[in-house]
Amino acid sequence: MIGVFDSGLGGLTVVKEIIRLMPTARILYFGDTAHLPYGEKSEEIIKKYTLAACNFLKKRKVKIIVIACHSASSVALDYVKSKISLPVIGVIETGVKTALKKTKNKRIGVIGTRITIKSGAYERVFKNYDKEIEIIARATPLLVPLVEEGWINHPITKEILKIYLEPLKEEEIDTLLLGCTHYPLLKKTIEEIFRNKITIVDSAEELAKSIVDFFDYRKIKRIKGELIIYLTDIPPEFERVARNFLGFSPDKIMRVALQE
Ligand code: DGL
Repeated sequence: MIGVFDSGLGGLTVVKEIIRLMPTARILYFGDTAHLPYGEKSEEIIKKYTLAACNFLKKRKVKIIVIACHSASSVALDYVKSKISLPVIGVIETGVKTALKKTKNKRIGVIGTRITIKSGAYERVFKNYDKEIEIIARATPLLVPLVEEGWINHPITKEILKIYLEPLKEEEIDTLLLGCTHYPLLKKTIEEIFRNKITIVDSAEELAKSIVDFFDYRKIKRIKGELIIYLTDIPPEFERVARNFLGFSPDKIMRVALQE
């Protein structure tokens, strides 16, 4: 069983990719909707919530925990790894490795929530692999609410994206890493803004591939997959939002309390 953790429903972009690659996977998803958004919270509180969520998944006997949330991966991954005796993977490393393979001019853009960008986690991992890489990072906090609202192709979203991405264009990046669960939904619009001249790295896709490798999928004989979603709050629009990220309506959704 695969445990997937996110601050809310955005991590379902990763679940969607896992199901695409492994249709018979069994997935327990934990979304901390009561405390969303993490992107605007402090490191201390994100660590506390993330550990509590991972303990919840561990108790339900998952074999691996995937931290799909970039904000949590940025500030809490090492902390959780030091406290939990299970394989825990974050979203940063796989995205970084892919971006490094794609870039030719070594100028890479990263967009994410405020805490993700402020933490400098992406820069650190990039520099671990290649000291010469130039990272142009930008916090793009308005994008999460726009995606949750379903305004994917809305002119306002396009305008905001143009404003956010202009400095990255000027910096002549040739690769852009989408450092947030919600941004894969904006991939097409972002490609248009850059006139398809740069490579966009979708971390959800890359993360899902590394999970397939972990499980050695070909050995799994099951015929049917399963997805159970635990949420710490059931917000009014959760069904519509979940469907936007996942591509279908999940049927097993349960509300749980987070034991801190
Ligand atoms: N899941 C968060 C991330 O990937 C975005 C939503 C939030 O701020 O909680 O950073």
